[in-house]
Amino acid sequence: MRRRLRYVGAMIAAGWLYTTASDAHESHSKKLPDVKDVIAFRTYLMENIGDNAKEMGDKVKAGKIKEAKVNAQAIALHSLRIADLFPQGSTSETSRAKAEIWQKWDEFVKAADTFRAEVDQFAMVAGEGKEAEAKEHIKKVFGGCKGCHDSFRTPEKDEK
Ligand code: HEC
Repeated sequence: MRRRLRYVGAMIAAGWLYTTASDAHESHSKKLPDVKDVIAFRTYLMENIGDNAKEMGDKVKAGKIKEAKVNAQAIALHSLRIADLFPQGSTSETSRAKAEIWQKWDEFVKAADTFRAEVDQFAMVAGEGKEAEAKEHIKKVFGGCKGCHDSFRTPEKDEK
């Protein structure tokens, strides 16, 4: 299982390199394309995590436990990429990434790993249709978003 996950991670990483290389041909190639693209891409990824999380929460509330599994799996897959999408110093005027990410890199990576493990666990419980457990476990998943954002993302009002 571990090995399979790692293999999947490698395939995803390969896909990311491929995407970056082909995007560079098309647009944003004027200035600092690498940094800008990686920030745009991780915002896109995080927004998709957000959309999936919302849908997942709504399904759980509505008692559609098994249907929430697919959202959890999407979030878990995205989470495998989080660390790679924060190369050293990739900040901008619009990015909300805090310098703490690179100052406490191990902690950041651990937050992403722990989060992914919680989401995988939720996916398993949800897939089995265990409503009470799923409702309990989803709190840990959302706690993972909040924990990481509190430490590593600047609050909204600081955004200009
Ligand atoms: C390991 C850390 C980490 C975890 C876990 C995490 N996020 Fe994020 N998230 C970030 C960081 C850092 C940013 C800011 C990135 C930037 O602006 O460059 C971000 C940005 C976002 C954004 C983009 C828009 C914005 O306001 O910046 C959304 C939406 C989001 N996260 C939702 C979620 C949700 C929902 C979860 C949980 C289901 C989650 N995130 C889990 C670190 C994390």
